[in-house]
Amino acid sequence: MALFDDGYTANPHPALAELRQTGPAHRVTSPAGIPFWLVTRWDEARLVLTDPSLSKQQPMDGLPPQLRSALTTQMLLRDPPDHTRLRRLVSAGFTPRRTEALRPRIEQLTDRLLGAFAADAEVDVIDRLAVPLPFEVICELLGIPAAERGPFRAWSDTIIVGGADMSAALAQTVAYFRDLLTRKRVRPADDLLSTLAVIVDDGDRLSDDELVGMALLLVVAGHETTANLIGNTVHLLSRHPSQRSRLRDDPGLVTAVVEEVLRMASPSATSTYRVTTRPITLGDTTIPAGEQVLVSLLAANRDPGRFTDPNTFDPGRPDGGHLAFGHGIHFCLGAPLARMEAQIAVRRLFARHPDLEVTVAPSELRWRTGLLMHGLRSLPIRLEGQR
Ligand code: HEM
Repeated sequence: MALFDDGYTANPHPALAELRQTGPAHRVTSPAGIPFWLVTRWDEARLVLTDPSLSKQQPMDGLPPQLRSALTTQMLLRDPPDHTRLRRLVSAGFTPRRTEALRPRIEQLTDRLLGAFAADAEVDVIDRLAVPLPFEVICELLGIPAAERGPFRAWSDTIIVGGADMSAALAQTVAYFRDLLTRKRVRPADDLLSTLAVIVDDGDRLSDDELVGMALLLVVAGHETTANLIGNTVHLLSRHPSQRSRLRDDPGLVTAVVEEVLRMASPSATSTYRVTTRPITLGDTTIPAGEQVLVSLLAANRDPGRFTDPNTFDPGRPDGGHLAFGHGIHFCLGAPLARMEAQIAVRRLFARHPDLEVTVAPSELRWRTGLLMHGLRSLPIRLEGQR
């Protein structure tokens, strides 16, 4: 199947365009033999993301109890009313003000990472900026002490990559968060974990399992996705010199640039899985009850039925409404933070290195594999024209 070969990894858009043209939803079997439906058109994507008959709750029978409690309590994997309650409590601590308060710290971290480029003529922007920045920001947000970030980074990388070591890394991370939570209760600080540990809303509060699950969700949901967004933005700008010089003349355009990258190179290539609880009809296709469904955000965001010239990189285009952060009740809680990080990183990188050049041909770029993420594994750049 064209969705799982090397050609797809290098450039997913032709295969997705073909599927989108053929129909709004397609039954696919993964290389591991697991069947699911992939939704490729914008209208149907929105419908699937908002239809309450599609459930996020999955049986997790095979997992050890301490992992099950950390996963089944995550809002991303719950339906209302549990989702409503968790999202309300977490939103009470993860406020726009808290996100905005991180701005100076993000600027500082970005400058520190960019400052470390100084001695090099060439750097891998994924390794040196796109991955470490969101990681450090999540650590700051949660209140993970600097001295404890090393092992934590190793576990979180393992969780993100998946594979054989994943459940051990998950167990270590869960144990770490339990311990951190105990310490935060004794000595609270001005961080999200301490704040959420004491938040009471209408007599309701988050349990320890829910707090640990939330911390784990933020790490998994907010790290690789944001790294992909930063990498994809540097990549697309380097391929569009006119947009890049517009950005140099007017740094405020970075907002529109990042928005257009979210649409054209959606860092989270798909939604997470939903399961149908009754048959659902999308165009001329009916998906039976009990089937797994994934929305291809990458495909929906280039649907010509919604966007004019969808394959043209056009920051500030009038037809907005991309679905890169999802839609409906599970709309990304970290969207303002992710946008802010990418805007700061990209603006500062291009301000310091206005003539930077990607040193490998488009066909030689190394992309992350799999259907779920769309991002580069490395992006070597030459730092000419340093200021
Ligand atoms: C949910 C994308 C960054 C936290 C989602 C969803 C998407 C998404 C598509 C919905 C999934 C679905 O409905 O199946 C992204 C992208 C990001 C990003 C593209 C970066 C460019 C972040 C960050 C955080 C975060 C930085 C937090 C620090 C969450 C949470 C949810 C979520 C908590 C679950 C919300 C809920 O279930 O109500 N994200 N995300 N994300 N995201 Fe993000």
